[in-house]
Amino acid sequence: MNYYCKKITIIHLIVGARPNFMKMAPLNDELSLHSDKFQAMLIHTGQHYDEKMSKLFFQDLGMPEPHAYLNVGSGTHGQQTARIIERYEDYILQGNRPDLVIVAGDVNSTIACALVAKKLHIPVAHLEAGLRSFDERMPEEINRILTDRISDLLFTPSQDGNANLINEGVAPEKVYFVGNIMIDSLVKHRVKAEESTILKDLGIAGHDPYALVTLHRPSNVDEVSGLMILLDAFAELGRHIRIVFPMHPRTSKNIELLDLTSRLEEIPNLTITEPIGYLDFMKLQMHARLILTDSGGIQEESTYFGVPCLTLRENTERPITTAIGTNQLVPLDSQSIIEYSERILTGDIKKGSIPKYWDGKTAERVVHVLDEWFNLA
Ligand code: UD1
Repeated sequence: MNYYCKKITIIHLIVGARPNFMKMAPLNDELSLHSDKFQAMLIHTGQHYDEKMSKLFFQDLGMPEPHAYLNVGSGTHGQQTARIIERYEDYILQGNRPDLVIVAGDVNSTIACALVAKKLHIPVAHLEAGLRSFDERMPEEINRILTDRISDLLFTPSQDGNANLINEGVAPEKVYFVGNIMIDSLVKHRVKAEESTILKDLGIAGHDPYALVTLHRPSNVDEVSGLMILLDAFAELGRHIRIVFPMHPRTSKNIELLDLTSRLEEIPNLTITEPIGYLDFMKLQMHARLILTDSGGIQEESTYFGVPCLTLRENTERPITTAIGTNQLVPLDSQSIIEYSERILTGDIKKGSIPKYWDGKTAERVVHVLDEWFNLA
């Protein structure tokens, strides 16, 4: 008998930290629609391990359990990156060699797994390639540059990404402008997010205005001086509007360690919560009067929702959100934060528009490229 056996292309989708989950979920879904050609395997490094930083996102996004969990946990950059490299290499060498590894964004899991794959001569694709803050003090900037440098396929979310890569000498035929894959998750889950009861749970009635705050960048939360500036600004902001502040574990640990708990408690009108799941957080974003953040993803999500966002950083690797979106960079001083917030609260609001290909169809475009790249189309 003559059996014709068609080869299935095996793809590892690497997730590790919170912002990876909403980028890989749409790709995992899309690849599963093409199971005659592709088998996607989710590999979780365990960089984020708290229930509310990881498991909750799998549930909210309807993601299957990962195929492998490397359980690396926290540590210094060196320790964490080294553990991921060691364990992921080990996993591949134990008979789990894929045909392609896809990494996303700029976290330590991204560069660590890209490096392992590349040295084992496995092609690497980078989702969210080409973004640059041009600030090499940010660990994420190093992760982005190095991952892009060794990737075989570079999927950019906006055309500034293409320009950055071409300027760095990346061969244009490796670069594909596919749009923002995180927006695929927003488009898919927006209706479900509206059903979240988070506003009611927090005692926010009807159209009660509130400002949504998130902070976790080392440059903002690792030093007393930076944290004091931010807490002072929030103390004034709280006199004008209620503040909802889901707190990242890094931030809560530092506030305690740096003895700033009483400063935090003095802020009027402040509701602090633990990290919040995907659907609840979407609802909080959609209905906020104003968002203050140092996150990368929230700059993009707020632009998509058309909600004013003040980014408490000196620079952004997502300049399209300030150029055409609702985002505004604010220098790290209390007076500026208060002034920019007051402008928004008194109705001086920047009208933004949604960038090209932030349309919920990025995963489809990525799979189309993969089809052609592997010559499966
Ligand atoms: C990481 C990413 C950052 C991303 C952020 C989103 C890197 C270099 N940074 O930063 O780009 O924006 O995720 O959250 O990869 N911790 C817990 N529980 C957890 C995870 C972390 O308590 O589940 C605490 C630990 O004390 C840990 C600290 O948070 O040391 C920092 O975690 P880490 O993964 O090193 O970096 P993030 O600040 O989360």
